[in-house]
Amino acid sequence: MTVVAVDGPVGSGKSTVVRRAAARLGYVYLDTGAMYRAVGLLAMEAGVALDDEEGLVALARGAGLAFDGDGRLFAGGRDVSAAIRSLEMGAAASQVSALPGVRRLLVEEQRRLAGSADIVMEGRDIGTVVFPDAAVKIYLTARPEVRAARRTAELRAEGDEVDEAEVLDALLERDRRDSTRAVAPLRKAAQAVELDTSEMTLDEVVAAVVAIARGQAGP
Ligand code: DC
Repeated sequence: MTVVAVDGPVGSGKSTVVRRAAARLGYVYLDTGAMYRAVGLLAMEAGVALDDEEGLVALARGAGLAFDGDGRLFAGGRDVSAAIRSLEMGAAASQVSALPGVRRLLVEEQRRLAGSADIVMEGRDIGTVVFPDAAVKIYLTARPEVRAARRTAELRAEGDEVDEAEVLDALLERDRRDSTRAVAPLRKAAQAVELDTSEMTLDEVVAAVVAIARGQAGP
C-alpha cells in the first residue's frame, strides 16, 4: 500500500491535478473534501444547523457515503457529486469540518475507504492527520488571486454565474477558517514537498506530482 497525501487550500488546483495524477500512476483517487461537502449538503436538506455537532455526527454516521470508480460520491445511493460543488456547499463544508466529532468520524471512514490500495488522497489534513506515515506528501498552493480566478472559471463552467471578487472573498474566509481551527488545521506537513502552482499549467502540475510520487514512493 502506497499513500500519496496531497493537501492544500481551495483553488490550488488539487482536485483536477490529483485525479489525473492518480490515473497516470494507476492509483485509486479519493477526494476527502467531497465527504465534508456531502455532510454539509445533507445537513442543509435536513435542517440540521451547521454547528450542531451531535446532529451532524448522527447525520454523517447514517449518510452511507460511497465513491464509485469514477470518483462520483453517493449518499445513501443518491449521486450528490454535482450538488456538493457549489460555493454555498464549500462554505457549509468548511463549517462542519471544524467540528471534532465530524472530523473523527470522516477520518475513520477515509482510512477504511483507503483499505490497502495504492491511493492518492487529497484534502487538508491527509499528510498531517489521516496518514501521517504516508510515503509521499505534497502541499499544493498558489497565490489567492490565482486560486480565485481558477475557482471562478470552474464554477462558471458548471453554470454558476459567480462574481470573481466574491469568490476571492469566500476563498480568503475559507482559508482563514480552515487554517485557524483548533482541530487538524490546514498546514503543510513537515516532510511535504511544497509546489506553488501559480505560474504552472495544469499539465505541468500533474507531471510534477507524478514525478514526486514516483521519486518518493520507492520501487
Ligand atoms: O477541498 P474542498 O474545497 O472540497 O473542501 C471543502 C471543505 O472541507 C474545506 O473548506 C475544508 C474541509 N476539508 C477538511 O477540513 N479536511 C479535508 N481533509 C478536506 C476538506
